[in-house]
Amino acid sequence: MSKKKTVVLAYSGGLDTSVAIKWIQEKYDMDVITLTANLGGVDDFTAIKEKALKTGAKKAVAIDAREQFVEYFIFPALRAGALYENVYPLATALGRPLIAKLLADVAVKEGADAVAHGSTGKGNDQVRFDVSLQVLAPHLEVIAPLREWNMTRDDAIKYAQKNNIPIAVNVKKPYSIDENLWGRSIECGVLEDPWVEPPEDVYKWSRGVKDAPDEPEYVEIGFEQGVPVSLNGDKKSGIDLIEDLSRIAGKHGIGRIDNLENRLIGIKSREIYEAPAALVLFPAHKALESLVMSKDSLRFNEVVSARYADIVYNGLWFSQFHQDLAAYVASNQRVVTGVVRVRLSKGSCVVVGRKSDNSLYNRSLSTYDSSDTFDHKAAIGFIKLYGLSPKIQGKCQLDMMKTGSGANAKPVVPPETEYED
Ligand code: ARG
Repeated sequence: MSKKKTVVLAYSGGLDTSVAIKWIQEKYDMDVITLTANLGGVDDFTAIKEKALKTGAKKAVAIDAREQFVEYFIFPALRAGALYENVYPLATALGRPLIAKLLADVAVKEGADAVAHGSTGKGNDQVRFDVSLQVLAPHLEVIAPLREWNMTRDDAIKYAQKNNIPIAVNVKKPYSIDENLWGRSIECGVLEDPWVEPPEDVYKWSRGVKDAPDEPEYVEIGFEQGVPVSLNGDKKSGIDLIEDLSRIAGKHGIGRIDNLENRLIGIKSREIYEAPAALVLFPAHKALESLVMSKDSLRFNEVVSARYADIVYNGLWFSQFHQDLAAYVASNQRVVTGVVRVRLSKGSCVVVGRKSDNSLYNRSLSTYDSSDTFDHKAAIGFIKLYGLSPKIQGKCQLDMMKTGSGANAKPVVPPETEYED
């Protein structure tokens, strides 16, 4: 008789992954080991482990992965300026490759044959898990019960009741929520109508603007090589810094994002995010870069940030391109050390000050007062050469610029101006 196979299941303790324990046992006849990873937001490992064992798991593993999450995922993405479609700080997307890595590690250590996760068949997360696992541990079979079973939420509740799986009282929740240290991602229910303003109960970490204090609050964030290391002069661990800043910013109504997003699998979806710390750290980090980086580096960063965000969003964390882009980012961040002051007030975070030993700002060159050292005469020669090419173009193409080149475009030269003598 062949030995019974074992699967390691990423387990949150919620309805779907609890049902998955039983469902995998029935459908695949495997032993189930659950893995609960805390990337922030899990406050009771004991209760979750008990629930897993009660539901039929052979073993329940719990790992606090918050430090790794910050050091290897959150801060590298911040340094790269990675915001998907310019707005989403990627909390969920960054968590998936880490959970995949933990699944692979536990599976190898436990001698398991397969791993399983609770992603559905129409989201990005299945791609992030499966692709990461194919890279890290191609020998493992990957099972995604929610992609295979045809259960509605009501079916899952019935299945749970039939199999004595304990279900939480709030099981009929109106939203689908993924939450970790870096942010909350919220979908479903009324949010599926992009015209409907998200109701207040979607949010947990931020106040509505009308409930935010009238008095603004100033915060100073210290960065070392692009990594935030202090708040108001106090050195902090990454976890503490994110949690503290999240609380402060959230109090001032900062942190809410409403985006109609392009998923990897081709669907547009309406996504609500809540990430108060990220919505302060991204602009602060960018403001410091503006002070210490050359114009060319800053222009190129726009490309790097967008590509980096796509890599993360599209499930290619463990890829050659990411490794190489990360090397570029590590190099350009070596100068990003300094302090940024932000003003938080009524839903907005505004950078109001920045300083750094690596500053490229030279006051005697930019000032309009008597300490000016800029060579004004040098501008004449510069402009002569800079304008040479457009001048030659004008000589032979000004007529086309006046008619729109014959194409269906407005002329770049407006018509003669009429005026009274
Ligand atoms: N659309 C986001 C992403 O792909 C968030 C998905 C969050 N999942 C959820 N169950 N709310 O990263």
